[in-house]
Amino acid sequence: PAEQILKGKAVVITAGPTREAIDPVRYISNHSSGKMGFAIAEAAAKLGADVTLVAGPVNLATPNGVMRHDVESAVDMHAMVMSLAEHTDVFIACAAVADYRVAEQSDHKLKKSGDDSLTISLIQNPDIVASVAQLESNRPFVVGFAAETQNIEQYAIDKMNRKKLDMICANDVSISGQGFNSDQNALKVFYAGGSKDLPLNTKSELGDELMQIISTLLPSN
Ligand code: PMT
Repeated sequence: PAEQILKGKAVVITAGPTREAIDPVRYISNHSSGKMGFAIAEAAAKLGADVTLVAGPVNLATPNGVMRHDVESAVDMHAMVMSLAEHTDVFIACAAVADYRVAEQSDHKLKKSGDDSLTISLIQNPDIVASVAQLESNRPFVVGFAAETQNIEQYAIDKMNRKKLDMICANDVSISGQGFNSDQNALKVFYAGGSKDLPLNTKSELGDELMQIISTLLPSN
């Protein structure tokens, strides 16, 4: 049973959006609420795992018994996750991490320049889940998410292979009432040698279902 396998296992979960500062008062971000990641954290804690959430800026209470580190940017989230990774048994990347950050953040509030347009240059952020998957020693079981709007299955499997993940949970974020910021979601889960369809349900139920699947895929010790 899942309790037996997950009891005392170190599970680290990223959740929520990241904020990429433009200047001291402005940022680039996305609509992630953190609900999906927090629901997974709650489910894992209920099964007796030792759970740590690395959360972007969200407005949610920390689930019972869960350790929480709050971060802002993708670079901060990457640093926090990497500091925990070697002591992690299962890493679940549910955060909607910004792929790019502002190349040159301004120390002062940007002023209108007088021109009709303004160009901001972006540079790529580190890929957190891929960095964990590349660890050569003490590599955890690595689970990613894929937020897609088309060719869900194909793009998700490509992402899993490219980032060398053990499992990927794909969600269609073009359908209203699920995905970003909703209380419900639907997931298609892929892993080596199988897949599972988790139809529309509360994020809380999906968190339970996901932890059950993960427990069956962990190496038995
Ligand atoms: O937070 P909610 O409002 O509850 O919404 C849930 C959700 C829709 C955000 C969640 O279910 C989800 O899909 N999360 C992943 C969102 C995402 O950014 O997906 P992606 O396809 O762009 O990224 C693929 C994977 O790489 C993800 O596991 C992501 O965490 C990870 N990643 C991406 C970029 C980066 N620099 N580092 C990463 O680790």
